[in-house]
Amino acid sequence: MRNNNYHESVLVDETIEVLHIEKTRKYIDATLGNGGHALEIVKRGGHVLGIELDPEMLKVAEKRLASYIEEGKCRLVNDNFINIDALAKKYAWEPVDGILLDLGVTNIHLKDLTRGFSFENPSAELDMRISPEAQGVKAADLLNVLREDQLEELFKITLDPGSAKWITGRVLHSRAAKPIANVGDMLEISEDLKTGKKRLHKATLPFLALRIAVNSELSNLKEVLPKAFGLLAKGGRLAVISFHSGEDAIVKDFFRQKSKEGGKILTFKPILAGAAELGENRRARSAKMRVLQKI
Ligand SMILES: C[S@@+](CC[C@H](N)C(=O)[O-])C[C@H]1O[C@@H](n2cnc3c(N)ncnc32)[C@H](O)[C@@H]1O
Repeated sequence: MRNNNYHESVLVDETIEVLHIEKTRKYIDATLGNGGHALEIVKRGGHVLGIELDPEMLKVAEKRLASYIEEGKCRLVNDNFINIDALAKKYAWEPVDGILLDLGVTNIHLKDLTRGFSFENPSAELDMRISPEAQGVKAADLLNVLREDQLEELFKITLDPGSAKWITGRVLHSRAAKPIANVGDMLEISEDLKTGKKRLHKATLPFLALRIAVNSELSNLKEVLPKAFGLLAKGGRLAVISFHSGEDAIVKDFFRQKSKEGGKILTFKPILAGAAELGENRRARSAKMRVLQKI
């Protein structure tokens, strides 16, 4: 799977196995990215509706999947996955045999020096929007306008309450002097943060909290799960790959609730990456996949 031009997809073999791909059946890849998972599904004869919020990322997937699009085995759309139900209806893609949500952003986003996700370029604008076309509020805007209590809540997505309070104080101090504008400002704010996680860069967790907030990642996840489950055919499967505990908790709770209402949990423990993948792809270290089947 290693190809430096593309996002390194995680848990690919495991995803293909749990989604149980069959020829001409319908699947939705609701977080298309570079199309790594979608490509493996269409190669096995499945038909894929791919949804991607970032128009730039969609262009990459369109090139990669061009021959399957031409053959009518694949249809890609630039949209938010919270509209999955309307999109499935619009493209006559229901009921669906399998749905994948591979959450967060790609490593292409994280390496991009212009969009504010990476701390490699301090002079980049602190933006972090997945879709600059569809979203108006940038990370810097949140830091400049939110109230103290709202900032604390934002940082609590990834930090303990004490650290969230501390960094909120630093944000308030910094913005009183001048508006927060770029990646370097946020690096400075995070400089003396103590998270107790020595292996992580000081700014990793505050940046992650900001990205999650800018892109409403947790509320989008809460909204898409019931809609995705509703679209499944009997026997169809919903696979969700999450990368931090906030996401995983939402998925676990939803699956537990659905296990009393027509769903069967196929993963009592989440599926994790094996040693070979962990050696090749750092991002796989935090990946957890859970699978729910409609019965
Ligand atoms: C981890 S990547 C998926 C990578 C993909 N599975 C692959 O193999 O190339 C997650 C993708 O979901 C997209 N995304 C995030 N939130 C989204 C949303 N609400 N709706 C649609 N796409 C979203 C991101 O832009 C990113 O490209």
